[in-house]
Amino acid sequence: MPSIKENKSLFDGKYNWTNRGDEWSMAWGGPSMQWHGTILPRIKSYIPTNRIVEIACGYGRWTQYLKDLCKNLVVIDISGECIQACKQRFSECSHIEYHVNDGTTLDMISDSSVDFVFSFDSLVHAGESVINAYICQLQRILINAGVAFIHHSNLGEYDGTYSRIRKIPRLEGLLIRLGVLEKNLHWRDFSVDAKKVERFADENGLRCLSQEIIPWGTKRMFIDCISTIAKNKSSLNRGNRIFRNRRFMEETRYLLLLSHLYNSVTNQASN
Ligand SMILES: C[S@@+](CC[C@H](N)C(=O)[O-])C[C@H]1O[C@@H](n2cnc3c(N)ncnc32)[C@H](O)[C@@H]1O
Repeated sequence: MPSIKENKSLFDGKYNWTNRGDEWSMAWGGPSMQWHGTILPRIKSYIPTNRIVEIACGYGRWTQYLKDLCKNLVVIDISGECIQACKQRFSECSHIEYHVNDGTTLDMISDSSVDFVFSFDSLVHAGESVINAYICQLQRILINAGVAFIHHSNLGEYDGTYSRIRKIPRLEGLLIRLGVLEKNLHWRDFSVDAKKVERFADENGLRCLSQEIIPWGTKRMFIDCISTIAKNKSSLNRGNRIFRNRRFMEETRYLLLLSHLYNSVTNQASN
């Protein structure tokens, strides 16, 4: 399980940020394709808005789009290096606030002040205590009609299977070679899954509006989940809509294909 310490050590010093994280969008044909084709259709009902908080912003791969969708943007990361890089990258934007946190705390955000909380491609590496800590604070920081869009691990769904397999030496390797288990679990956390996140929301006066359970660079295993969360008393409240989207990787491949035709030539590297 990647701990806060391991996340900080990797992303605050060890990781080579030369490409600002754009390398993680290669399967989509770049950050712009991923933003416009995958992320925007899923958050369009909640933006533009007044105040957005982005948890775990990295070098600003999504900040570059979020900043134009609100009057005030707060970006938070455990990595001082990332926050410094974002300060430089967005130095002309006076409506962005920057905070280095301890990996769980949102104390810098005042009560009932946030319309939209966004976190994508970061908290998939976080364990249940981190996810629970952030969810606990949503109740306090969100306005009544506020929404959080949180991308997190669903690897916990497979925890029992892995524990049994790992009791038999060499079985895991064999099953990977036979193609039964995935080779790369993308540093996802085994302690988090969609059900747990739904429960954390329920325990904190919140509700999942939807949970999209998805593969992520995987063929069969649904290792990720995107949970959209609102307050219990929100007018948006409804029963949780859960969708196991087995076509998510097709979406990725389709956008990559389109990117070859439509990404701008002058801007190819940053698209
Ligand atoms: C894989 S990078 C992704 C960054 C950005 N979301 C993107 O998609 O380009 C993960 C980021 O999450 C940050 N991070 C990891 N755990 C965190 C935590 N518990 N709280 C805040 N930031 C965290 C890391 O410092 C790093 O910047």
